[in-house]
Amino acid sequence: MTPIIEAHGLTKTFGDIRALDHLDLVAESGCVTALLGPNGAGKTTFVSAVATLLSPTSGELRVAGIDARANPKQVRQVIGLAGQYASVEPAMTGLENLEMVARLFGFDRRTAKRSAAEVLERLGLSDAGDRLVRDYSGGMRRRLDLGASLVGRPRLLLLDEPTTGLDPRSRLELWDAIRSLVADGTDVLLTTQYLEEADQLARDVVIIDHGHVIASGTPDELKSRGGRDVIEIRPHTSAELAVISSILEAVCAEPPRTDDDTQRVSAPDAVAVGSGGGFGANPAIRPRMTTVWIGSPRLPSAFLGMNLMVILLQENETVSFPPS
Ligand SMILES: Nc1ncnc2c1ncn2[C@@H]1O[C@H](COP(=O)(O)OP(=O)(O)O)[C@@H](O)[C@H]1O
Ligand SMILES: [Mg+2]
Repeated sequence: MTPIIEAHGLTKTFGDIRALDHLDLVAESGCVTALLGPNGAGKTTFVSAVATLLSPTSGELRVAGIDARANPKQVRQVIGLAGQYASVEPAMTGLENLEMVARLFGFDRRTAKRSAAEVLERLGLSDAGDRLVRDYSGGMRRRLDLGASLVGRPRLLLLDEPTTGLDPRSRLELWDAIRSLVADGTDVLLTTQYLEEADQLARDVVIIDHGHVIASGTPDELKSRGGRDVIEIRPHTSAELAVISSILEAVCAEPPRTDDDTQRVSAPDAVAVGSGGGFGANPAIRPRMTTVWIGSPRLPSAFLGMNLMVILLQENETVSFPPS
């Protein structure tokens, strides 16, 4: 079966910023694929490229087998997009909102009414259909927004951090809604900052940072990889690679590995770093780290159920190990 999304060497630059940097990704049809990464990793840029809302600088992108760069109009006919910010109209009812969207899709009045009612039913919002959206809870709005992207019966639904900012109950409700969509045959690409969310929903997970893929696999594969404590550090300048490597060597159980291509040093046993105080004790290095990846179920994690955790350090910001 043709993959629903295929990206090869996809690159998007904004001036000096490489939001996507030779990104390779294949999302299979018939499931949820999660794009996991910290803030600024390039998730929204990728979703926007798939949605043909921006044009890539270089590389290949196919959506449902269609060349997205050559035929954006055709791609728009197979996708639906819902984002972090609900785009529904608060002064209208839920039903009116969806009817309006359906009319914009060119449905006649009767068909629009019917498909709006169907979508509300699907998302468990039938009872609230005649209420003004301004009286909806945040979770209900987000579900209605999801509904608006379903009206056109897309083959591929793009969800950009759909649960960010939702309370735990609304998050669970939205997860259920997404599961039932996939059961009905809609393919989903979902971005998230939470491994737990990817674990709950996705068959395949692609982890990106700095615009390119750093790991991919099923949630179980990624978790078992995360079962080993790993610390990975990318300094601001390549000159610091050697210094970081020497500190890691002093405090880690096994020798660190330096990857000149990705400009990262990685070493097993992050706990040793924490207790040994290597970085915490070295102010010369501490402020210059940009990204720290810790894969460890043993570290107390800020995110429930996560064993792969991302800490982004800005210049002059510090972090202690293990993170509390
Ligand atoms: N329109 C834009 N102009 C300039 N820089 C941008 C623009 N959109 C995104 N970026 C930059 O590209 C990088 C990736 O951003 P984004 O795709 O929004 O990340 P994410 O969604 O993973 O948080 C960031 O450094 C961001 O600041
Ligand atoms: Mg984003």
